[in-house]
Amino acid sequence: MNEKKALLVVSFGTSHLDTLEKTIAAAEEAISARFPGVVMRRAFTSGMIIKALRQREGIEIDNVQEALARLAAEGCTQVKVQPTHIMNGDEYEKMLAQAAPFAEKMALSVGKPLLTSVQDFRDVCRALMAQLGAPAGDEAVVFMGHGTGHYANAAYSQLDYMLRDMGWKNAFIGTVEGYPELSEVLRRLEERPELRRVRLYPLMIVAGDHAKNDMAGDEPDSWKSQLEQRGYQVECCLMGLGEYPAIREILASHALEAERYG
Ligand code: CO
Repeated sequence: MNEKKALLVVSFGTSHLDTLEKTIAAAEEAISARFPGVVMRRAFTSGMIIKALRQREGIEIDNVQEALARLAAEGCTQVKVQPTHIMNGDEYEKMLAQAAPFAEKMALSVGKPLLTSVQDFRDVCRALMAQLGAPAGDEAVVFMGHGTGHYANAAYSQLDYMLRDMGWKNAFIGTVEGYPELSEVLRRLEERPELRRVRLYPLMIVAGDHAKNDMAGDEPDSWKSQLEQRGYQVECCLMGLGEYPAIREILASHALEAERYG
């Protein structure tokens, strides 16, 4: 019997190499550490990012299909696929669709995205709270999620609710491309006149374009600028979720719990 095993860690991707190392690469290492002796590979689901990395940096990254085809050609018979995606949305579904044809060629198992079970939400809240420290009475903690048109977008509201439920009454989650938007966050902040300071964090695995520009940029429409225009004292932290050791551990535990696919 010759069972050749591999681990494929799948991320949306980023073209910002600084955050790539600190977040995606760090998460890959944390997940890989749970499977000693098993070869680990990287794939991205964003075709746009794969193309940008190829053109701008000369770096080749596989998509899920390419990575699995390569592993199959190398004789791998058991492959565990773990996403670093935050939610069960479009990118996760794309990952499953690209993996599906390989279920006939190899024993595939697939782990869940970061925010799947209610316990995952609790674990993520704990990770955020432990890493960031509780806000002072006049201070709000605002997270910028990506947001999506997929129904999985509801995860943001559940996480927002749970943060408050677990004691962080000054925490607010908004998104760039979904609901709630910054306008909802601004309105909720106004309902709490005692809040004068804001700490801003990305609620994304990487701190890439959205975090650097849409959140913390100096353009007048960035979240930082819009909050400052309303008189808040704003502090931005460009730390992607992949930099939180406790978040990486949740992803690693999902890989351990990966279930047979196909
Ligand atoms: Co985007």
